[in-house]
Amino acid sequence: MSVRLAPSILSADFAALGDAVAAVERGGADLIHVDVMDGHFVPNITIGPPVVRSIKRVATVPLDVHLMIEEPDRYIEAFAEAGAAMMSVHVEVLPHLHRTVHAIKALGAQAGVVLNPSTPVAALEEIAGDVDYVLVMSVNPGFGGQTFIPRSEAKVREVRALLDRQGSRAAIEIDGGIDLANVARVVSAGASMIVAGSAIFHTPDPERAARELKAAALAGVSALRR
Ligand code: DX5
Ligand code: ZN
Repeated sequence: MSVRLAPSILSADFAALGDAVAAVERGGADLIHVDVMDGHFVPNITIGPPVVRSIKRVATVPLDVHLMIEEPDRYIEAFAEAGAAMMSVHVEVLPHLHRTVHAIKALGAQAGVVLNPSTPVAALEEIAGDVDYVLVMSVNPGFGGQTFIPRSEAKVREVRALLDRQGSRAAIEIDGGIDLANVARVVSAGASMIVAGSAIFHTPDPERAARELKAAALAGVSALRR
């Protein structure tokens, strides 16, 4: 298993996003995680397609767009056109999740589904075979800088078991409260896409923080092999 680091620009300086992206790319970022919030599904409001389009112009790695919004079907086309290579949607907002997942794929992007901390793993049962990745939220979505919910580690293992049972090779992404202290553990539980915001951007040197976090994540991969 390889591990991909996806720094979340939510915790970066929005007046200098280009610099933030360049710094974490030098530090080994494999993806840029973009948090889209609508003030309805989650309390916060962040950014939309125009900002994604601007980031796309400067980023050299794929953009991983996390849609924390109601009615994502209304926006996926705009985000795909803006340059999203991957888009994830929350199972909690979608009565027709299968349709949305396939609409994302039809736009040429990879499709992910997201589980809030209180959403059972069983919510994946009927969609596991259709998705490219599953995002396990390890905080309640809406804000950066929250504390990792310990139960999430076991949840990653349960998601991996469900995917394996169904013969799915979908990747598991984890998002929320990831730092140097817990990253190896979540990787050894089966997460291979690691989102981190404040642990990277709320440090004096985001490039170095990204490099250290990725090294720590890779230590978790070796634990997995043992
Ligand atoms: C939370 C967002 C996360 C957030 C992570 O709602 O989905 O991507 O930026 O930030 P940290 O790593 O600070 O918890
Ligand atoms: Zn996110």
